[in-house]
Amino acid sequence: MRLPLAVLALCVSAGLARAAPDAQDFETIARGRALTVAADCQACHTAPGGQPFAGGRPIETPFGTILSSNITPDPDTGIGGWSDHDFVAVLQKGRGRDGQHIYPAMPYTYTARATHEDDLAIRAYLATLPPVRRAVNDDTLPFPFNIRAALGIWDRLFFTKGTFRPVPVKSAEWNRGAYLVTGLEHCGMCHTPKNLLGGDRSGRALQGYALQGWFAPNITDDRRRGLGSWSVDDIVSYLRTGHNRFAAAAGPMAEEVWVSSQGDDMADLHAIAVYLKDQPGQDVSAAPLDPHRPDMAAGAAIYADRCSACHTPDGAGVAGLFPRLAGGPSTQSIDPASIVRVILRGARSVSTQAAPTGPGMPSFAATLDDREVAAVATYVRNAWGNAAPAVTPARVAADRASLADRPTD
Ligand code: HEC
Ligand code: HEC
Ligand code: HEC
Repeated sequence: MRLPLAVLALCVSAGLARAAPDAQDFETIARGRALTVAADCQACHTAPGGQPFAGGRPIETPFGTILSSNITPDPDTGIGGWSDHDFVAVLQKGRGRDGQHIYPAMPYTYTARATHEDDLAIRAYLATLPPVRRAVNDDTLPFPFNIRAALGIWDRLFFTKGTFRPVPVKSAEWNRGAYLVTGLEHCGMCHTPKNLLGGDRSGRALQGYALQGWFAPNITDDRRRGLGSWSVDDIVSYLRTGHNRFAAAAGPMAEEVWVSSQGDDMADLHAIAVYLKDQPGQDVSAAPLDPHRPDMAAGAAIYADRCSACHTPDGAGVAGLFPRLAGGPSTQSIDPASIVRVILRGARSVSTQAAPTGPGMPSFAATLDDREVAAVATYVRNAWGNAAPAVTPARVAADRASLADRPTD
């Protein structure tokens, strides 16, 4: 389409030129939107009840809490005045506009794997958002982490730069899954064990990590602690709906499904599942605890009384309603944070476009004491072929106290 010059000049002066992108721009923006959803940018960059992408959400890190930035196109308080080069430097290098280090609460150790082209597509999409004027106060980290320069050392220790390199012996689908999981989807940010400084523990990718009072389980193909018993389709349906015949997503994973994976392309979810099923587990053999131990016997009685009506006496659950507790990583994780939390707090089902809200689980905080919660958790972790370390009453007491400081979710 050719416009007379005068009309074109008018459009430009009225700022309409950008409002009439050509087909290729549309394609880029649509792709950028899908990548922005996959990467969860909105979840972290939106304060509770705040304007989308305008920043200010507190992000818990091993060093302290830090606030996310305004990434709307506002020229003063957002990234409207940034060049593409400035923007790409954040995602690829963890460097801010004036070259200062960004905190790894922004998952640049993962986004660095994305291609330049994908970064620019995300930028193109963000540029179409309404600008929001909102200055975000700087972070409140204790010394020495409040010195951004110290992060240079952190980067040298834990940050490998460079975009994703396909593995030639693997299929195109596997490589697509690897690109997403190790890159923009940053699954390892929650699921990979961290060292004391919050860096990913190398060689332990996706083997499980405790965060925000939850445990993000092992999602390798490990038979006992991981997804060994899940099929590719089981993984796809969990990521798409928050449920499958084994589990129901709660806490940070419910949010992940709600804001991100439920909107992912089916082919991408399939690729993610294919990649996860190919991550070797450790498959350490473990023997269940003796059913005659006092805590196991007490736990069996509490289970029969309080839990079996929903989760069924053999722990098989009811598909789509009550999660299966026999087998699977969420009950047998080394760290019992999630099971203790679910018993104390109850759990609300995540509702997605693909699955409306299911039934919830009541809280047992008022009706079971620390010893009883520990016993029933220990029982569930060691019944029906499950095997995992016992949960102590002291652990339940500690989790009960720390949960008291957390808002319900
Ligand atoms: C897990 C939470 C999280 C996710 C996911 C996340 N960010 Fe961030 N981001 C942060 C935090 C926290 C900061 C502030 C870091 C700092 O101040 O050092 C930040 C900083 C930034 C900055 C720097 C802004 C500035 O003013 O310096 C940009 C740009 C940015 N993020 C873009 C993105 C994009 C694009 C995505 C999706 C691809 C994304 N972020 C995903 C948490 C996140
Ligand atoms: C913000 C942190 C976070 C991110 C990001 C995240 N997860 Fe999770 N994930 C969790 C937590 C916490 C749980 C445990 C939820 C529960 O107990 O209901 C979980 C549970 C799961 C489970 C179920 C395991 C089970 O046995 O019940 C799967 C599968 C999973 N995540 C896959 C993924 C994949 C794939 C990604 C990346 C696309 C991802 N997660 C990103 C925190 C996260
Ligand atoms: C009224 C029915 C009901 C009762 C009673 C009940 N639960 Fe649940 N439970 C549920 C539902 C529904 C969910 C899934 C919540 C969700 O969607 O996140 C669940 C989730 C769980 C989970 C998390 C499973 C996963 O895959 O993440 C565990 C563990 C659990 N329950 C254990 C127990 C124990 C132990 C008891 C007894 C002390 C109990 N439940 C009693 C309905 C119930």
